[in-house]
Amino acid sequence: PAPGWRTTADVVVIGSGIAGLSAALRAQTLGRVVVVTKDRLHAGSTRFAQGGIASAIDPGDSPDEHLRDTLTAGAGLCAADAVRVLVDEGADAVRELIDWGAELDRGDDGRLSLTREGGHRRARIAHAGGDATGAEIQRALVAAVRAAPSIEVIEHAFALDVLTDGDGAAVGVTLHVLGEGERDGVGAVDAGAVILATGGMGQVYRSTTNPTVSTGDGIGLGLRAGASVRDMEFVQFHPTVLWLGESARGRQPLVSEAVRGEGAFLVDATGDRFMADVHELGDLAPRDVVAKGIMRRMLETGEPHMWLDGRHLGADFWQRRFPTVLAACRSHGIDPATRPIPVVPACHYASGGVVTDVDGRTRVRGLYACGEAASSGVHGANRLASNSLLEGLVFSRRIVAALESDGPVVRGAAEPHADAGVLDAEAVPELQEIMTAGVGVLRDRDRLDAAVHKLTSLAVPGRPRVEDWQATNLVTAAAAIALAARERRETRGSHWRDDYPHRDDTGWAGHLETTLQDGLL
Ligand code: SIN
Repeated sequence: PAPGWRTTADVVVIGSGIAGLSAALRAQTLGRVVVVTKDRLHAGSTRFAQGGIASAIDPGDSPDEHLRDTLTAGAGLCAADAVRVLVDEGADAVRELIDWGAELDRGDDGRLSLTREGGHRRARIAHAGGDATGAEIQRALVAAVRAAPSIEVIEHAFALDVLTDGDGAAVGVTLHVLGEGERDGVGAVDAGAVILATGGMGQVYRSTTNPTVSTGDGIGLGLRAGASVRDMEFVQFHPTVLWLGESARGRQPLVSEAVRGEGAFLVDATGDRFMADVHELGDLAPRDVVAKGIMRRMLETGEPHMWLDGRHLGADFWQRRFPTVLAACRSHGIDPATRPIPVVPACHYASGGVVTDVDGRTRVRGLYACGEAASSGVHGANRLASNSLLEGLVFSRRIVAALESDGPVVRGAAEPHADAGVLDAEAVPELQEIMTAGVGVLRDRDRLDAAVHKLTSLAVPGRPRVEDWQATNLVTAAAAIALAARERRETRGSHWRDDYPHRDDTGWAGHLETTLQDGLL
């Protein structure tokens, strides 16, 4: 559709979680910044993050140890240079977050309280409000952005497409704004740089920890602009969400890994602590190992879920340390101080995304990506717990530093894109069923073939409505996941193939990278 209004910015940021808002705050040094977000500024995954933010901020810890744990979890596919950046710049990024006003939990001595989660051999995870880390971070960033005179926020603005010039460089974004006043309807922001910070794509599955806005928009926008995506098969399933019955759909209450970090443990219906036989770190093994351990025991026993036993932590501790999890359990009639919590794995995080270098540059000039939408290379085949908030912070900073040193790029006029094909939003529940049945925790050739076939024939023509453009992004992300999962004939990290149950470093030590030219849909 032709834009009905236009505005200009030095930098336009798409997305308003930790990656987008921290990018916007820093990009003020470059001039006028526009943040576009398809819901309200505080919506998105960041505010649901519980466990916290990892960094080697403790004097007894070191970036090298954080590096080692990140590489181990990543199962051979992390980009070592990107992980080096993450761990070396992590502590400073957390300090900057504190300077923006985020109040992280501290002990009586005033020092940051640090905890452990799966895959961390040291306590290095800072948290806020016990288990409300993301909510506190989002609160602080929203307040800082609202107070920043050179940042304009456009809410309820769905990004249709990245605008490119005759040389294929990104020069802005077209938007569909559902609002009132001068920014209503289809419009465009012409910008010197475009930063994709749209978060994840958990809504491709029936059950996820992600909110409804996590629909893979950055994947669709990036691919249509000419960027490539990588590691899409490595969808991380969080080991423990509260089990709400077989027919639960949409966002499920997360039970933070930090609950196990503080001493709770997994058991089956007979009380057997099955993780002890699975990994030397037991309940604190990397999360792909724990998710698989739970799934395996569910298959062996026929139980629809496992149990997380934290009764011994006591009512006071639950209240003080995990108020969010406690409230979620109580609202479903479970008191974790007296009863084990029924838990199952659910889709949680996209370890892959739009390919970037260590400065957040995508393969399209002028287009940058950070946070969950990006594949900076830090997560490899399986993200280490609590590295995602950190990644958003560290790489948004790298992008702005790169923009400062690269200087403005001379650009041509924006060329209109052909309207992207649209899928009717009515088809989304079917898409979620296809992905859940065929491309879930356990994968094999037959299920993947069936999923790819069904996805590619899911041609339900849509209308030019936000829901349908969003459904188009969802099916683009889903197809990229399914095709990569079918292609990778091995088991590694969060990608688990029943028919190829072993890691194969001879054939599969590399990445799968895709562009729209590869005939994705
Ligand atoms: C959690 O609190 O378990 C989630 C942490 C994460 O996904 O990094």
